[in-house]
Amino acid sequence: MLNIENDSCEIMGTENKMKDTILGKNRDKMPNFLFRVMTVIMRLIDFLNNSSGKNFKTLNLKQGQVVVDYGCGPARYIENASKAVGTNGKVYAVDIHPLAIENVNTKIKQKQLKNVEAVLADGYSTSLKDKSIDVIYALDMFHMISSPLGLLREFHRILKDDGIAIIEDGHQKRSETLQKVNRTYLFRVVEETNKHIKCKKMNN
Ligand SMILES: C[S@@+](CC[C@H](N)C(=O)[O-])C[C@H]1O[C@@H](n2cnc3c(N)ncnc32)[C@H](O)[C@@H]1O
Repeated sequence: MLNIENDSCEIMGTENKMKDTILGKNRDKMPNFLFRVMTVIMRLIDFLNNSSGKNFKTLNLKQGQVVVDYGCGPARYIENASKAVGTNGKVYAVDIHPLAIENVNTKIKQKQLKNVEAVLADGYSTSLKDKSIDVIYALDMFHMISSPLGLLREFHRILKDDGIAIIEDGHQKRSETLQKVNRTYLFRVVEETNKHIKCKKMNN
């Protein structure tokens, strides 16, 4: 049972509820035009540099794992993830943006990815079951999140007790990533690489 009594979390929770009321639950969702521009740029970067292919290797996913590509966007990682976890594993590709879900479903069809499923997030809620996930990887998205506490609560809920959350800094400094994670008191950092941090659950 999770019980956060820390003052800063309470304040952040209240602030978050106020933002939800004023801006709506899906305030992290970018406009369609921006999403499309981002998709084109990311595909171009991959075409020129195989950037997602190189980054994917650092995730170290294993056969049989149930994983979440959280904030999957243009779905650059799902084919590699599908192969890495294999037929006994599963990939949930989660995003708050309906165009991302379209990207995932298109790729599932094109590449016949039988172990991948698209999941549209509603604010910081997903339909994923409690304690069902081995690895969440959240790449190039944590810097965009208006309530890290909201997001990390959902990570904490869906991860198995020995699960791992891999959080890439994206467009923010490592110190900011660490500060945002540490002040929720939900995760402890177990490993750092130059691109991301790997975290395990606290309060099991
Ligand atoms: C810059 S893109 C990165 C996409 C992908 N992870 C990659 O590295 O190619 C960030 C993605 O995170 C998604 N996102 C932002 N806030 C989110 C949230 N609260 N829940 C789920 N997805 C979110 C955006 O819609 C967008 O698709």
